[in-house]
Amino acid sequence: MADPAPGASSADMLEMARAAMARAYAPYSRFAVGAVVRGESGALYAGCNVENAAFPLRSCAEASAISALIMAGHRRIIEVLVIGKGPALVSPCGGCRQRLLEFADDATPVHICDPDGMRRTLTLGELLPMSFGPANLSA
Ligand code: THU
Repeated sequence: MADPAPGASSADMLEMARAAMARAYAPYSRFAVGAVVRGESGALYAGCNVENAAFPLRSCAEASAISALIMAGHRRIIEVLVIGKGPALVSPCGGCRQRLLEFADDATPVHICDPDGMRRTLTLGELLPMSFGPANLSA
């Protein structure tokens, strides 16, 4: 998926996440998820969930968006958006909170959305308090 230019707005981020969600491969759960991460340059990278007949091998939308950012040569995430169908908030799973922390920090905003738009914004620190991350290993 093409990366919008640096400076793309949150509306662009939501639009990109909707498009990513539409590409999800989720024949088993039938639960499509899209994620977009913003790199330090402002550029956006999208991902969707990809399931597998061997169920545990599925990958989350956030993991796929992180891979796209890394493949583009980046190392920092400054904003995150996740989208899935409600009614419950589709916030990143525990594993993805940890995956995001590797490249983001406690203050990084995480927008939780449904197909109608933004529902809630939390920080990564709120989603993953008292975390163990790269800072623990760099002392
Ligand atoms: N899923 C994600 O893509 N991200 C999350 O943070 C939560 C769960 C996907 C994995 C699986 O394909 C489907 O949602 C149902 O768990």
